[in-house]
Amino acid sequence: MVIYFSGTGNSKYVAEFFAEKLCDEATDAGSYIKNEELGIFSSNKPYIFVAPTYCWRIPHIFRDFLEHSVFEKVGEAAEKAYFVMTCGSDIGCAGKYNERLCKKMGLTYMGTLEVVMPENYIAMFPVPENDEADIIINAATQTIEGGIRIVQGERKFPVAHNDIISSLKSGPVNPLFYNFAVKAKPFYATDACIGCGKCAESCVLNNIELGADDKPIWGDYCTHCMACICGCPTKAIEYGKKSQGKPRYTFPDGER
Ligand SMILES: Cc1cc2nc3c(=O)[nH]c(=O)nc-3n(C[C@H](O)[C@H](O)[C@H](O)COP(=O)(O)O)c2cc1C
Ligand code: SF4
Ligand code: SF4
Repeated sequence: MVIYFSGTGNSKYVAEFFAEKLCDEATDAGSYIKNEELGIFSSNKPYIFVAPTYCWRIPHIFRDFLEHSVFEKVGEAAEKAYFVMTCGSDIGCAGKYNERLCKKMGLTYMGTLEVVMPENYIAMFPVPENDEADIIINAATQTIEGGIRIVQGERKFPVAHNDIISSLKSGPVNPLFYNFAVKAKPFYATDACIGCGKCAESCVLNNIELGADDKPIWGDYCTHCMACICGCPTKAIEYGKKSQGKPRYTFPDGER
């Protein structure tokens, strides 16, 4: 069973790619999280967890969801757990933390695959225009197909990084990032807002409400998934000054 979390579609795409080639199903953890539902899963195939990289680890919201889910194993193959992390550049030493998580989940860790996809963090970094994003997505196909062959062969994914800088990024930098950078306060909607409600609907943490004027109001509970700002059909959402003038990235999904 493939279980994924995705803010702007990259990880959903990769999860569905794995599921299709492995004749398996892809399940969106986001809808469980949004509905505050406990995950109870049953599989006769390896578990494959797909997620974006947030500060060189899987998103804390996805980690907490997995930690509190139940994984029924129908046969030996389902004892195994593979992690696949999409990222803009690298996943650091995320695998170390995924291995620890696996132990808590009662599954056998089979490694973490790094898949470079278009950057989506417009609140912090430059993001690619459509043409550049398409090239990055095409280049990722080889890595994804290689990962699928490893799962089919019941082998382990190779370790992505094992150096001191990567250890620091996934280690002490990660909690600092969550404490100091992950804030919803700078979000606001401009006059381009048409009050469609898509931002509120797409927020996995139900952190957005529409006000009396049908414009979104952000609460304090945000995980910086970028679904609201990148998914707004009129590009009405900004994150302070950091997002101004940047393209909005969502996985193309046949829209181009
Ligand atoms: C909050 C946040 C933190 C991120 N941190 C990293 C990172 O540490 N390393 C990296 O290479 N990409 C990072 N990215 C980029 C995303 O991991 C990447 O674009 C991912 O494919 C997005 O997946 P999604 O479309 O499924 O949400 C970050 C993005 C966000 C929104
Ligand atoms: S998605 Fe955009 S247009 Fe729709 S309500 Fe939210 S800010 Fe307004
Ligand atoms: S407020 Fe926006 S960025 Fe924050 S969790 Fe909700 S959709 Fe994601």
